[in-house]
Amino acid sequence: MSRTVAISPNPLDPFPRVELGHVPTPLERLPRLSEMHGVRLYVKRDDCTGLAFGGNKVRQLEFYLGDALAKDCDTVLSTGAVQSNYMRLLAAAASKLGLECHIQVEHRVDNVSTEYRCSGNRLLTGLFGSHIHDYCGGEDEKGADRAVHLVADRLEKQGRKPYVIPLAPTKEPKGALGYVLAAGELIQQTDDRGLAPDLVVVGSGSGLTHAGLLFGLRLHGSGLPVLGACVRRNRELQASRVLGHCSHLSTMMNLPKLVEKKDVWVDDCALAPGYGKASRIVTSAVHLAATREGLLTDPVYSGKALGCLLHMVKAGKLARHKEIIFVHTGGAPALFAYRTDVEEYGVK
Ligand SMILES: Cc1ncc(COP(=O)(O)O)c(C=O)c1O
Repeated sequence: MSRTVAISPNPLDPFPRVELGHVPTPLERLPRLSEMHGVRLYVKRDDCTGLAFGGNKVRQLEFYLGDALAKDCDTVLSTGAVQSNYMRLLAAAASKLGLECHIQVEHRVDNVSTEYRCSGNRLLTGLFGSHIHDYCGGEDEKGADRAVHLVADRLEKQGRKPYVIPLAPTKEPKGALGYVLAAGELIQQTDDRGLAPDLVVVGSGSGLTHAGLLFGLRLHGSGLPVLGACVRRNRELQASRVLGHCSHLSTMMNLPKLVEKKDVWVDDCALAPGYGKASRIVTSAVHLAATREGLLTDPVYSGKALGCLLHMVKAGKLARHKEIIFVHTGGAPALFAYRTDVEEYGVK
């Protein structure tokens, strides 16, 4: 990996940011998983970003909420799954900043347990005092986006100044700026430690973390490949989404195109049976991380991404890569909502 390049003027300067997270997050070795898999594995502990059980969304929210405050908004809204880590963290950040918070809860996953509906992230989102709105349209990103804007319109008529955090791929990917910044942090850490990673692996859902990291690495002159593990949609859809975010980032920062189609690497080997559902690839990764490294991952995001990574290593698909950084994006509160999955792999 190349040394951090001091970029002047800093292309992130024009974007307001409010500090919410504990950074830099640690970069740790995974010695026992490394030995098992015959590769040097490291984990970037973005599950330890501090706010309300942490996770990757803290870095993204720093830019959305920075923008909301700069625009004098008093109310924030967004939409996510019942067990969304993002909604938990938005609710927590809004409490911290004294903003009214409206969360639209999308019932995306079918056949769920009582724990799924009430515990884990959903319990915590309520604890932060946010207003909850249910969206029963299933897996429908555009419909959910329209519905949350209707709530915002209603609040505006009541005299509030709402700020909607959009997740649709057509909108400015402000949240990715958090990971453009994190890419610099990662380069600094690997340089300081004399490491020479040849791959970064991260979960890819909305694609903002993946796009921000990839773009940020290229911005700092690093050609380090980033593999995005699909957690919500297949690799064709995900690749075009991530590429779209990267070209948006160039436009937003007034920079040339830094990421080409060939740079966007995604794999969906751990996606089945679908968003929010675990397979053996995932449950065994969650189990291995816990029993070999004392590391908590979840069946929806970080465990799925780790499952993808370990599965690809075992299948020989990453044979060229000897030193791999797994970006742990958090998500462990969802473990309580997935009790049956946790218990199942506990007895195997
Ligand atoms: C714990 C966790 N990891 C990874 C992701 C995926 O990140 P992104 O949406 O930026 O692709 C999410 C998204 O909600 C998440 O909550």
